Amino acid sequence: MLDVKKIRNDFPMIKELEKKKAIYFDSAATSFKPQCVIDRVNEYYTKETANIHRGDYDLSFSVSDEYEKARETVRKFINAESSAEIVFTNGASSSLNLVAYGYGQKFLKEGDIILSTEAEHASNILPWFKVAEVTGATIEYIPLNKDGSFDIENLKKVMSDKVKVITLAHVSNVLGYIMPIKEIAKIAHEYNAVVVCDGAQSIPHIKTDVRDLDIDFLCFSSHKVLGPSGVGVMYGKYELLDKMDPFMLGGGSNARFDICGNILLKNPPFKFEAGTPCVEGVLGFKAALEYLMDIGMENVEANDRMLHKYFMDEITKLDNVEVYNKQSETSIVTFNVKNIFAQDVACYLNSKGIYVRSGNHCAKILLNVIGVSETIRASLYLYNTKEEIDYLVEVLKGVTLQKCIEAAL
Ligand SMILES: Cc1ncc(COP(=O)(O)O)c(C=O)c1O
Repeated sequence: MLDVKKIRNDFPMIKELEKKKAIYFDSAATSFKPQCVIDRVNEYYTKETANIHRGDYDLSFSVSDEYEKARETVRKFINAESSAEIVFTNGASSSLNLVAYGYGQKFLKEGDIILSTEAEHASNILPWFKVAEVTGATIEYIPLNKDGSFDIENLKKVMSDKVKVITLAHVSNVLGYIMPIKEIAKIAHEYNAVVVCDGAQSIPHIKTDVRDLDIDFLCFSSHKVLGPSGVGVMYGKYELLDKMDPFMLGGGSNARFDICGNILLKNPPFKFEAGTPCVEGVLGFKAALEYLMDIGMENVEANDRMLHKYFMDEITKLDNVEVYNKQSETSIVTFNVKNIFAQDVACYLNSKGIYVRSGNHCAKILLNVIGVSETIRASLYLYNTKEEIDYLVEVLKGVTLQKCIEAAL
């Protein structure tokens, strides 16, 4: 069991919301930051500001060291084989674009197939549309069950030698289903396809071991996992990183270049990290991962699952609410109040100090599967409590169209 009281005390934003009597159920969009992360970012600006890997003086040496230690912390967090497999980016979107550009655009050709699902976030489908446009490869979708969940048998039916990439979220950002990514990777590798795993929603909630899952790429953002914004990770198996192209060229990524335009790139991960990175963000991210590792990701995961189950049990008792992801196991509950537009309900909840997200959640083609485009998403994290869930359920019980209209006036 987590000491939630103590955890809540670590988060200034929770204290801020407590003063306003407000509750945050939108951690799938971005998470709050513990004080240690804020302090780490502040410390860089107040005591350690220097560029990394560039200066010949102590300040730059020591901050470069810290930056590389952060890479090692990420390696440990996801159990990668080497810290050279950890590329820092601006976020999950930037990581997914990097894989699509550097691997997809370079190695795919006409006739190849990219397999994905209709539940993907825009950041994991639009870059593959571009790969298809540039290379002549086609995108096909693994059929999902009517409730948007995944069935491995459906993957087996569409798998063929033409499939070169399978790209999907480990946890859907709309429905919260956990994909059987290890089984997916096993099947993919039997056909020599690579697996790109969008870990934006799984990394914060599920203990992830890239070697055990045997995935080829894993992309995620720091800001959803208690870290600062503007930082992300693209993990890739070294042999894949070695042969793929960087998305950006510039300072820091090359060993030398000459007047004729010849460029000798550095080895991974540095060849992918042109330009000055978000140094303070990476250092803060390290503090965030250390914070989670101190608690233990297995404890975070167990707590998230427990809270989610409690939420699901309570909300499914309401006659006026339709829940779309009853089979989900962690962090996300997606629903509508019957006959009331999602955004109207979200505005009403806001008037009661409850912050949720409404809309299509950047997964605009999922509508084809679950038959509804606008939903309310309440997402949980380690600082949420059963009492907060009780309050949300109580407020939902009494929602009427009239109350939503009044709240909007
Ligand atoms: C599943 C999924 N993939 C990718 C992203 C993009 O993440 P970011 O906006 O941090 O780049 C998100 C963000 O919500 C997401 O939920």
